[in-house]
Amino acid sequence: MLGEEVRKDTDLMLSTENVGKEFNGVWVLKDIHFQLKKGEIHALVGENGAGKSTFIKILSGVYKPSAGSVFLEGKPVDFHSVTDSEALGIRTVHQEVNLVPYFKVYENIFIGAERKKKIGGMAIVDSKRMKKEATKVIKDLGIDFDVSSPTLLLNASMKRIVEISKVLVHNPQIVIFDEPTTSLGEEERKNLLQIIKGLKERGLTIMYISHNLEEVMEIADRITVFRDGNQVGTMEKSEATTGKIISMMIGHDNYKHYCRVDKYYCEDVYLSIKNLTTDKLKAVNLNICKGEMVGIAGVVGAGKTEIAKAVFGLDKIESGSIEVMGKPYVPSPENAIRHKIALVPEERQAEGLVPNYCVSKNISLTYLKKYANRAGLINRVLEIETAQAYIDKMGIKCTGPLQTIKFLSGGNQQKAILSRWLNGDFDIGIFDEPTKGIDVKAKEDIYSFLEDLAEQGKAVVVLSSYLPELMSLCDRIIVVRDGRIIGEYTPQQPNAEEKIMHAMLGGGA
Ligand SMILES: Nc1ncnc2c1ncn2[C@@H]1O[C@H](COP(=O)(O)OP(=O)(O)OP(=O)(O)O)[C@@H](O)[C@H]1O
Ligand SMILES: [Mg+2]
Repeated sequence: MLGEEVRKDTDLMLSTENVGKEFNGVWVLKDIHFQLKKGEIHALVGENGAGKSTFIKILSGVYKPSAGSVFLEGKPVDFHSVTDSEALGIRTVHQEVNLVPYFKVYENIFIGAERKKKIGGMAIVDSKRMKKEATKVIKDLGIDFDVSSPTLLLNASMKRIVEISKVLVHNPQIVIFDEPTTSLGEEERKNLLQIIKGLKERGLTIMYISHNLEEVMEIADRITVFRDGNQVGTMEKSEATTGKIISMMIGHDNYKHYCRVDKYYCEDVYLSIKNLTTDKLKAVNLNICKGEMVGIAGVVGAGKTEIAKAVFGLDKIESGSIEVMGKPYVPSPENAIRHKIALVPEERQAEGLVPNYCVSKNISLTYLKKYANRAGLINRVLEIETAQAYIDKMGIKCTGPLQTIKFLSGGNQQKAILSRWLNGDFDIGIFDEPTKGIDVKAKEDIYSFLEDLAEQGKAVVVLSSYLPELMSLCDRIIVVRDGRIIGEYTPQQPNAEEKIMHAMLGGGA
């Protein structure tokens, strides 16, 4: 740590001068003069691929800058590794989850920094202490959880909590959060925002990256906007509005908020779920029609994904039945595909991304048949043309269809994998958290793609824990809680949002 005298000289915790980063001759960050003041929460926003993660990777020692310098409390620092930045109290919750699946939760939390005790002059791992400390950080996040559980079995949101705990357990000075709330449900999100405010009250300095501008407006003291690797500006929260931030992010004022206008009324039932009961679901009844957009709302763990899983035969059905077009349907992944039902999983990156394949191969993967000729040979030209079309339509930031996908930013990888499904051959598409990790503007694009699918006569089912998304997108919204369907609402009915929230959370009604 640096001495007291130095701290008094400056109210800057971390700053950069002329910082730039190039990969293979392309400058993805240019001339960044960034200032993180002591004790503030500083949000960093920008479109997918703007350079946010690259910048924080420089601040945390993952990358060396190609130009410029980084200063900690006014003193130049030259990190050679993450360990160097950690030694100075900088900890980062990265965008990608990186846990060892076969470790227990507390072992992941203390990975590389195991607590030890001395017995007979020998240092041995102190599991009891690690469990105790790990339980405490998780409990502080408002979650009651057995830290001895295997990590493998955790859902996306719990994995994120473990990543966050991994950082908090070290009592850092500066915490950098790169999109920490993706995959969190409403309750956990609120808890995390409270925790972050609490960290600030304890004197910590925080950098916060998020695509959720409401969140940013709620917790940030100052906001910096990046666009295309440039720092567009930094402002106090009091000078900021979401409109202003978006214009700075996209470089113009032509931003339209998507809202579904042509509402569809259910006539042609495609999928009918009757009294379906599984381990997690209790007597679920649900009809999905062609051409409609149905939202399924519920907090994390309420049973949204479980409905999709039951339709796919991934969870055992105890009683009840499912029909497709009025005919009995036996759930299994093969049958689902045969009946043209597609499930776009939430953990698309973990489950669907092939990091070393190029963008085009990642897009063609699931529906390869579409690209094969009669002899079964893949038409590479068609693959590349299709990929290029999606790169243009979705605004995927990359050097072209042949770029290896692992070099794209997190949000651009998401867009590419989503394209794979948007181009798919299905009649019902169940999309689990389709706009996870995607920037404000690209989200609006995805909403209109989903609407196009509905217009083509496909049924679009969106599972989301982010209610405003379902409100602007769906014809009707089904609320699930504790494995049951609690109610059905339309976004237009009076006080719909409050009613849905209430139904989602229970609230003892
Ligand atoms: N290792 C790498 N090699 C080549 N290009 C890279 C590498 N890492 C990042 N890039 C490029 O740098 C640019 C900025 O990426 P970065 O991940 O910093 O964006 P971001 O602002 O975090 O976006 P998102 O909101 O999608 O997470 C992107 O165009 C990306 O493709
Ligand atoms: Mg990023």
